[in-house]
Amino acid sequence: MFDDLIMPPADKILSLMPIFRQDSRSNKIDLGVGVYRDASGTTPIPRAVREAEKRIHTAQTTKAYVGPAGDPVFCDLIGRLVFGEAAPWERIRGIQTPGGAGALTVLAGLISLARPGAAVHVPDPTWVNHVSILEDNGLRVVTYPYLDRRTGEVDFDTLLDHFSRSERGDIVLLHGCCHNPTGADPSRSQWQALAEIIAERGLVPLVDIAYQGFGEGLEDDAFVVRLLAGMVPEMLVSSSCSKNFGIYRERTGAAFILARNADRADAAKAQLTVRARVVYSMPPDHGSAIVRTVLEDPALAADWRAELDDMRSSILSLRQGLAASFRRFTNGSDYDFLAKNKGMFSLIGLTPGEAVMLREQHAIYIVEDGRINVAGLQASQIDTFAEAVLAVRGK
Ligand code: LMR
Repeated sequence: MFDDLIMPPADKILSLMPIFRQDSRSNKIDLGVGVYRDASGTTPIPRAVREAEKRIHTAQTTKAYVGPAGDPVFCDLIGRLVFGEAAPWERIRGIQTPGGAGALTVLAGLISLARPGAAVHVPDPTWVNHVSILEDNGLRVVTYPYLDRRTGEVDFDTLLDHFSRSERGDIVLLHGCCHNPTGADPSRSQWQALAEIIAERGLVPLVDIAYQGFGEGLEDDAFVVRLLAGMVPEMLVSSSCSKNFGIYRERTGAAFILARNADRADAAKAQLTVRARVVYSMPPDHGSAIVRTVLEDPALAADWRAELDDMRSSILSLRQGLAASFRRFTNGSDYDFLAKNKGMFSLIGLTPGEAVMLREQHAIYIVEDGRINVAGLQASQIDTFAEAVLAVRGK
């Protein structure tokens, strides 16, 4: 049965994890997988999360099943965080999922059921797993131009032009904030213009919001979700708690749909729940219990928000430090985009070969498309990193 199986290509992000662990060089720097690290290089468990875990440990009396749609209170709390209070709640439904990838998987399954073989437009570049999940669900992936590689900003005119020619009913995957891998987000007026084209041309947005709170703040980062929810009849949203709650391995997320009316929303949610049942049966509970405990307690929620604000500020100051360092070493402004990008990631502009040189010669791990996880850097490593990048580029 397995005789004809070939080895799949390595996952560009996750394949770096074991190689990094095995690297015995003491000066090694991991800017691969997207996790936040504090000044000591640790991915911290937020204070409010630790406290919530203690409370759950004491209060929980059973580990019996919750069900395929997960905890409805968790879904409501995350829904409000993402869509805001003023959303058309009568038309929105959500289920708890194993992380953002779980949400994308059940949403892709739902799209495939509703519209077999539909075209989903994804930005070029996008998170590698987007394409895999969509294709695995029988969807047709089309790319849309996204990044102006000369400026490091969104190539907005080309992007708008692409959508002004796409077919009615096509799905448009948008990164809600902190675009992965480029860190380049549209401005508010650009989001507005894009939302108008989407509404006008009858496109269906699928918004992946995995870094809410890391760009400009919890509320501001949800701008495009909230904008679209007031403009379009139908949309899909995948949300992740991995990064903003620091509970990566607990696999906690949610999938939401906005439908034309309450009846269609109920049907879509029921089908989404069937997808969950078929793919993983039920989502794990611990992460959602943590999130619920934090958000239901005003003091814990305030502490969580404060710690998330601190994480965002620290990434911003690393970004500014990096841009300043490159400016010093190059006497130029080519890397100023690093300070403008949002969230964890930026593309540093290296070829796959140069990314390998960075790893082999300088013990610095980045994804081969040139993506760096700025949040993985420590302030003391900024100059080392900038010098190494310039060295492998021969500049
Ligand atoms: C990343 O992009 O590094 C994260 O979203 C982790 C992952 O699953 O790829």
